[in-house]
Amino acid sequence: MTSPLHVVILAAGEGSRMKSSLPKVLHPVAGKPMLHHVIDTARSLDAAGIHVVIGHGADKVRASISDDNLHWALQEQQLGTGHAVAQALPDVPEDARVLVLYGDVPLIRSETLSHLAGQVSETALGLLTVELPDPDGYGRIVRDDGGNVQAIVEQKDASDDQKRIREVNTGILGVHARHLKDWLPQLSNSNAQGEYYLTDVIAMAASRDVAVKVAHPQTAFEVQGVNNRIQLAELERWHQAEEARRLMIEGATLLDPARVDVRGRLEVGRDVVIDVNAVFEGDVTLADGVEIGPNCLLRNARLGPGTRVEANSVIDGAIVGAGAQIGPFARLRPGTELADRTKVGNFVETKKAVVGEGSKINHLSYVGDATLGRDVNVGAGTITCNYDGVNKHQTRIGDGVFVGSNTALVAPVSIADNATVGAGSTITRNIEADELAVARGRQRNIQNWSRPEKS
Ligand code: UD1
Ligand code: CA
Repeated sequence: MTSPLHVVILAAGEGSRMKSSLPKVLHPVAGKPMLHHVIDTARSLDAAGIHVVIGHGADKVRASISDDNLHWALQEQQLGTGHAVAQALPDVPEDARVLVLYGDVPLIRSETLSHLAGQVSETALGLLTVELPDPDGYGRIVRDDGGNVQAIVEQKDASDDQKRIREVNTGILGVHARHLKDWLPQLSNSNAQGEYYLTDVIAMAASRDVAVKVAHPQTAFEVQGVNNRIQLAELERWHQAEEARRLMIEGATLLDPARVDVRGRLEVGRDVVIDVNAVFEGDVTLADGVEIGPNCLLRNARLGPGTRVEANSVIDGAIVGAGAQIGPFARLRPGTELADRTKVGNFVETKKAVVGEGSKINHLSYVGDATLGRDVNVGAGTITCNYDGVNKHQTRIGDGVFVGSNTALVAPVSIADNATVGAGSTITRNIEADELAVARGRQRNIQNWSRPEKS
């Protein structure tokens, strides 16, 4: 049996270059805090334990996650990466393999990590390295003539010769817990930064016949850390470019792959077309043939086959059937359910509205806390008055109802099948099937009216 995997995530650093009151590891990439990306990736490895080392902004970092299975370790003073790992070690069992990750390196892939973790045993540690055209600032990988890794030398401690090495330490490594418990107390801080370097365990391994096995990430972005907002934006763009590629491979047409942002999970069927400046948040599913017009926001929504969303629409917490037409300038709020072939047009807001097949709300309406049957026509400017200042009330509209324009439906109220409401009505009483309700002042025409004159 292989030994259990424990992940230690370092997240105690200050991140002063972010110039932010938000702890660095809570800055989001694709709408999710960097640290949460790393934790989710750690979870995908089926780790037996996940340990997060916190220091700066510890309370905020802790409060950002409600997961009883995480182990928190407080590093009160940031004395170096080796010292940071040592804070988590008391909670790590002796027979574990330990994978060290950084809270500010958010896009590391789980495949890369499981490969790395697979190399770790009592006789070998795994080190993730990468060759960079500009290795400035990183720890350099020092190898002997046989190509075996001997040590990592930090930039500030490196000789001029060592500074020319382009293979660098990503910071991510896997070591057996038994070795860490043995070696970390032996670290010294007599180096250029006066810190306890985790990287010094490499030289310890080399001198004790523990093999150093090197692995590489698929791309350099995976191991790119974030120190400032420029690097944060670079990672965001890289991540979004990857999402766009995935969507196109799955059969979506993106009018401009650089102008689609996915901040959550987006599933697409075939022949989905997405115009520019679409933002997707939470869980969104677009069935075959869905078309999204320019400048739309979709959050936690499911759209059926062939549904079209026209420009500048906001869809939030809604389920939409097949062949529906939404927008331009529509706003669907949580609890909206639109059946097949429905139409919700411009400047229409819906909330907790269940709309039956073929029904239309085409212009300038508010429909909230309402159920509509099939083939209902809601005229322009119709409002459900669902709120009396204290409570919300329901409006029920049956099949085939025609609501004339500029109507106020004062809830609670119900309108039975095939009833008609005259334009401009304020409806306060229920309407029976097939009735016509007109509730407005009668028109008077006064003959030979003379207008007032200026005195
Ligand atoms: C570290 C590595 C370096 C590597 C680089 C990759 C060491 C000594 N050096 O350098 O070889 O090339 O990462 O980015 O490990 N942290 C704590 N507590 C501490 C110190 C750091 O939690 O006391 C956390 C930081 O928040 C950060 C991570 O550890 O997430 C790395 O620390 P940082 O100071 O950025 O290390 P580097 O100097 O960049
Ligand atoms: Ca760093």
